[in-house]
Amino acid sequence: MQAENRIIDKSILGSDTVSFTVYCPVIAKKAKAGQFVVIRARNEGERIPLTIADRDPAKGIINITILKIGKTSRLLSSFEPGDIIPDIAGPLGKPSEIENFGTVVIIGGGVGIAPTLPIIKTMKEAGNYVISVIGARNCNGLIFKEAIKTHSDEFYTCTDDGSEGFKGFVSDFLIEYIKQHPDKKIDRVVAIGPVLMMKAVCDVTRPYGLKTIVSLNPIMVDGTGMCGSCRVEVGGKTMFGCVDGPEFDGHLVDFKLLSSRLDIYREEEKTAYNKYMENHKCKMSQ
Ligand code: FES
Repeated sequence: MQAENRIIDKSILGSDTVSFTVYCPVIAKKAKAGQFVVIRARNEGERIPLTIADRDPAKGIINITILKIGKTSRLLSSFEPGDIIPDIAGPLGKPSEIENFGTVVIIGGGVGIAPTLPIIKTMKEAGNYVISVIGARNCNGLIFKEAIKTHSDEFYTCTDDGSEGFKGFVSDFLIEYIKQHPDKKIDRVVAIGPVLMMKAVCDVTRPYGLKTIVSLNPIMVDGTGMCGSCRVEVGGKTMFGCVDGPEFDGHLVDFKLLSSRLDIYREEEKTAYNKYMENHKCKMSQ
């Protein structure tokens, strides 16, 4: 009998990305594509939202992918199989809208590739023709490649440095793809990744009137609509990323406001991160 929140498996997906398989039977049973969990790596620590990249209800496991960018993500990624994550709350947020739209293009950038996997799977199961596009700085960042390829009708990779696939951003690839396939009717685009990437994809699809869904990553605290820290503006209305999203119509999102709100605690995050790294170094040299 496993203990809840125990890490069953750990995979290093790249120099700054780690994936955990965690025993969470209730979350694994209830979670749907597009939903997320809020995690604390220690009891007094900050809460961070992480998208559920995959789940297996029969085994009671979920998969979460962590990009080591701050103190908490670095601490969490130092956990090993057998360790127990103190707090995992979820599944939170609205599930992705899944139906047979026809042809869907699903785009993942960086660590945003991970949450595209359950969406790709469920879109395919719903009968869609799925075109998957994943992008990263270089070929080492193209995570979940084989799994995504397996569930896609067409599969493309993009790298900034040209080390694999199309050389350039996923948005540049999309421009080329649309130009080269004028007869292909695209019914929906889903883009998940850094804010700039999602905005760039929306800028490409807007003139064509292609409905584009993005998954937003505002700062979150409780993840249940109580604290207001995840406020985003969509179509001129204030909405909460955690309960109204995380997925929204990308053509209505105020990306400028989202970026500036994500920067609010940048200095504090930097200080906490530097302190953590200092302490960590001290412990390693003791
Ligand atoms: S995270 Fe608190 S309201 Fe959304």
